[in-house]
Amino acid sequence: MAAEQTLVLREDQSGTCLLTINRPDKLNALNRETIQVLNQTLTQALSDKDIRVILITGQGEKAFVAGADIAEFAHFDAAQGKALAADGQRLLFDLVANATKPIIAVINGYALGGGLELAMAAHMRVASTTAKMGLPETSLGLIPGYGGTQRLAQLIGKGRALELICTAGMIDAQRAYEIGLVNHIFPSEELMQGAQKLADSIKKTAPTALAQAIGAVNVGLDPSAGLNAEIKAFGACFDTEDFKEGTQAFLEKRKAQFPGR
Ligand code: COA
Repeated sequence: MAAEQTLVLREDQSGTCLLTINRPDKLNALNRETIQVLNQTLTQALSDKDIRVILITGQGEKAFVAGADIAEFAHFDAAQGKALAADGQRLLFDLVANATKPIIAVINGYALGGGLELAMAAHMRVASTTAKMGLPETSLGLIPGYGGTQRLAQLIGKGRALELICTAGMIDAQRAYEIGLVNHIFPSEELMQGAQKLADSIKKTAPTALAQAIGAVNVGLDPSAGLNAEIKAFGACFDTEDFKEGTQAFLEKRKAQFPGR
């Protein structure tokens, strides 16, 4: 399979495929191109019968994915903001969540905003002990728009999810493990080996049964009503002065002073 500039794909002989998001200078932030390439590569991997389990990670030691690319959307209006969330959910996050093969997020560093949302759309998560996770969108005058409002509450409960979202805080890997946000944690140097071991255990089971199991779990936890509400609310944020100030402050590397309108 082809290796793209923004995404490196490796397939081993045993049926595990590793996708590495490759924009380390921007902490692997998800821009439009990265989402498109991930969509194409994942679609291809899902239809390849030799691939049984897909691992997704980020290039470098610092970040899994530090969120959606703030520079790309800072000038968007409400309609563009709404389309950003809707397109991203359709092209990547729903594709991952509804995949018929197990997808494991291998969280090697910061998983923030869209990065944590990508990890939460995956079926399982493993993290290095140095990883940090959070949904900091409210510090930009936004809300999570790639499924975070729904999937975080499903994984860790409403109160803890709203605390993380409303404080824009970050938690470390140990805490993420304690509250069930990640399945396993490993020292950085053992992370990939740990992920491979989990993939190997999964590959002993029947592919058809795995697809049915994922489908059944997903039907029981169907977040589509909440995801639609999230898309609308995310778009509405783009019409506010708070959003303009929050994103500008990030790009100017200063603290935001929110006007509250
Ligand atoms: N979108 C676009 N660029 C991003 C980014 C994002 N989500 N996250 C990091 N970057 C870029 C930075 O702008 C910087 O680029 P530059 O070198 O051209 O200035 C580069 O990645 C390195 O990030 P930097 O902020 O300098 O690293 P740091 O170690 O000081 O801080 C973080 C690391 C993760 C705490 C910080 O980058 C951050 O807060 N990122 C945004 C997280 C976020 O709000 N995500 C949700 C987006 S909706």
